[in-house]
Amino acid sequence: MTSLYLLLWIVGAIVLQLVIYLSIGFWRHWVNYLALRHTVSKIGLPVTAPLPVAEPEPTAAAWPGFRTFQVMHKVMEDGAKDICSFHLAPLEPLTLPPFLPGQFLTFRLEVPSLGGAGTEFITRCYSLSDAPQANSYRVSIKRAPSPAGSPHPPGRSSNYFHDQVQVGSLLQVRAPSGHFHIDHSDAPVVLIGGGIGVTPMLSMLNWVLMTQPEREVWLFYGARQSQELMTQPHLNALAALHANFHLHICLSQPGNDDELGQNFQHQGRINIDLLRHLLPLKPYHFYLCGPSPLLQSMVPALEDWGVPDARIHFEAFGPSSVKRKSVSAKPTVAANAANAAPADTALTVTFANSGQHFSWNAGIGNLLDFAESHGIAVDSGCRAGGCGSCQTSIVAGEVSYQQAPDYDPEPGTCLMCVCTPKTSVTLEL
Ligand code: FES
Repeated sequence: MTSLYLLLWIVGAIVLQLVIYLSIGFWRHWVNYLALRHTVSKIGLPVTAPLPVAEPEPTAAAWPGFRTFQVMHKVMEDGAKDICSFHLAPLEPLTLPPFLPGQFLTFRLEVPSLGGAGTEFITRCYSLSDAPQANSYRVSIKRAPSPAGSPHPPGRSSNYFHDQVQVGSLLQVRAPSGHFHIDHSDAPVVLIGGGIGVTPMLSMLNWVLMTQPEREVWLFYGARQSQELMTQPHLNALAALHANFHLHICLSQPGNDDELGQNFQHQGRINIDLLRHLLPLKPYHFYLCGPSPLLQSMVPALEDWGVPDARIHFEAFGPSSVKRKSVSAKPTVAANAANAAPADTALTVTFANSGQHFSWNAGIGNLLDFAESHGIAVDSGCRAGGCGSCQTSIVAGEVSYQQAPDYDPEPGTCLMCVCTPKTSVTLEL
């Protein structure tokens, strides 16, 4: 045997050993993967056994209607100076009840009328952006300019907050609300925030690291460039302090000062390939908030990846163009469209205070539109069951909901923007 043959035999033997070693490794990993996937998909089925998470019950509103809060601090949070945090304390002494990280506050604001003369009231919701504190709430609001080249005016509420609301200003605030909030288990979580959609993620993140410092948590935070990032020094400090917190900042249009690997980790938008590449195979809960394109791409991609619906939680900001699919929320008012009155049933809607009554017109959609079509004034904000503005007492009769509202109406009341009469109904209006 020549030395060349000997060398070939040795190389061949080494290659063969490598192939056997890699095959065994792959086979073990594949078996584990199949077992885990089987377990995960079992958990995701419409369950007979409960999910292994301690899901908190949605809280009833901590106070009815609006309370007066005072602005204690205003803090600019980003390099572009477009995001401002407002720290709010109740005017009258009150230990603030804890909220569920991810929930929002509803504000009733008196803003200049669009016509220019006088003022009018508008209602807006903003996510709480910090963990629950005993004495104050924090919301972080991004100034909304007019869209470039558009005749639309700048955001009334956000500009009012930035320009008119100062330290010492008084604001009318509803109690924290909303069904988009982190679970209280120790399951690993992935938080995905796009733009100002990061605010509820910050509340969740701060709460997790404060109360469950061992819990595994990932934050994927998307923006165009670092100037738009909120509280980046705070995030970097948390990442340095907690080995179980994994921070991934994704910039789609990095600025001249942005350096990959230095102040951001990925160039481009948050996408499923990035998650698949980085995340170990574990039964994560995914929480997403951001503009519709982010949710419209990521939610189906997570489902396609095999993440059970019960582990995907999301909330769109801005116009709610993404329907909630998550089954984790437990609204106190359930959708009961199946019990709705047939369209041809003759029902009467009575407005008690104004002494008027009208035949219900099912084609009009909801009680808010119906009241307004008859000249009955009703407070409204989101018109989507999220803010509680249109909450109205039911004097008699019943209503039904097509979809469970995000805001929990007080007992004996209804959210007119998302309900219809189930029987003839009398409302306190
Ligand atoms: S208008 Fe917001 S809940 Fe009805």
